[in-house]
Amino acid sequence: MLSEKMEAALNDQIAMEGYASFFYLSIASWCEYQGMEGASEFFYRQATEEHDHMMRIFRYVLEMDKKAIAPAIQQPPSDFKSIQSIFNDVYAHEQKVTTSINQLVNLANEENDHSTHNFLQWYVSEQREEEALIRSILDKLKLIGDGPQSLYFIDKEITQINSQVGNQQGEA
Ligand code: FEO
Repeated sequence: MLSEKMEAALNDQIAMEGYASFFYLSIASWCEYQGMEGASEFFYRQATEEHDHMMRIFRYVLEMDKKAIAPAIQQPPSDFKSIQSIFNDVYAHEQKVTTSINQLVNLANEENDHSTHNFLQWYVSEQREEEALIRSILDKLKLIGDGPQSLYFIDKEITQINSQVGNQQGEA
C-alpha cells in the first residue's frame, strides 16, 4: 500500500518527469532549427526517455491502487543562448531531479515502504547515469571551446554519443 503522502509525492515526481520531457522536446526543437541535427536527435531521445520515466511512476501508482494524475505542464523555455548554456541548464535540472528522487527514497525509508523503495532504485541508477552522461558532454564542450567551427565539432561529437547511447540501449 501507499500512504497518501507517498501518493502525493509520486504524483509530484510524475509532473517533474513530464516537465523534463517537454523541456527536452523544446531544446530538441531549438537545436534542429539551428541546424544542429546531432544535438536535436540527442534531445528527442532524452524527451522520450523522460516520458518513459513519467509513465513508469504513473503505472506504479495505479498498480498500488492509488490515483495517478496526468500533470499540467508549465511551458518550458523555447529560446536558448547557446548549446553550452543548454547543457549547463540540463545538468542543473538533472541534479534537481536527483535531489527529488533522493527525497522520495528518504520518504520510503521513513514509512518503511519497501515496495516503493525497491521501485525507486531504478531511478537512483538512472540519475547517476544521466548525470555522468551530461557531465561527459560538458567536459567535451570545454575542450572544444567556442571558436568559429565549434558548433560543427560539438554537433559531430554529440552525433557520436548518440550512436554510442543507441548501441547501449540496443544491447540492454
Ligand atoms: Fe527522469 Fe532525467 O530525470
